[in-house]
Amino acid sequence: MDSDNVQKNLPVFSKEFLEEHYRLYPAAHQNKIKEIEARMLKADTTIVNPTYCHLRSLKKEHTYALNSVKLHEYFFGNISTEKDSLPSPELLNMMELHFGSIQEWEKQFFALAMCSRGWVLLGFDLDDGVLRNFFSDNHPEGVWSVLPLLVLDVFEHAYCAASPSRSVYIQEFIKCVKWEAVNRRLNVANEVYKKINEIM
Ligand SMILES: [Fe+2]
Repeated sequence: MDSDNVQKNLPVFSKEFLEEHYRLYPAAHQNKIKEIEARMLKADTTIVNPTYCHLRSLKKEHTYALNSVKLHEYFFGNISTEKDSLPSPELLNMMELHFGSIQEWEKQFFALAMCSRGWVLLGFDLDDGVLRNFFSDNHPEGVWSVLPLLVLDVFEHAYCAASPSRSVYIQEFIKCVKWEAVNRRLNVANEVYKKINEIM
């Protein structure tokens, strides 16, 4: 987890709180992924059913744990209170193109974070090169071919024990965004999108 730069600010973004969050969720889910993958190798593939079977249950929880780890890694990777990084000109241009302005993007992102039960994210859709905000109530929900650029965990476990309210937590998160990580992810997404269009 990249939390070394996170200073004590709102307790929810303290190194200690984030490390505990990491231990209880993605780290625990990483162990479960290994366990499920080992069990899947031995699962009976002859007794299968779309309502219930052992293989189906294993695969469902495998997707849950895998997406939990991926989303948490993005989330921890885009937090910092150094406040020395800013959105790149490329990111600002794309926000203006797809949202009208960074202020409009933030307004929508904030509102989605207030009504999501789990995650909110800014993503780059590799099918059409458009930036969109998304939310999901649970780890397995999401849209295919979208690369996450900025991810926020709004499950209660992420803030209830250390923040007076969800809105304060989201406001604090916006101040703690590690924009250099978001800029880097956007560069990667743009390169991948260009390559896909060259090949396809
Ligand atoms: Fe979490």
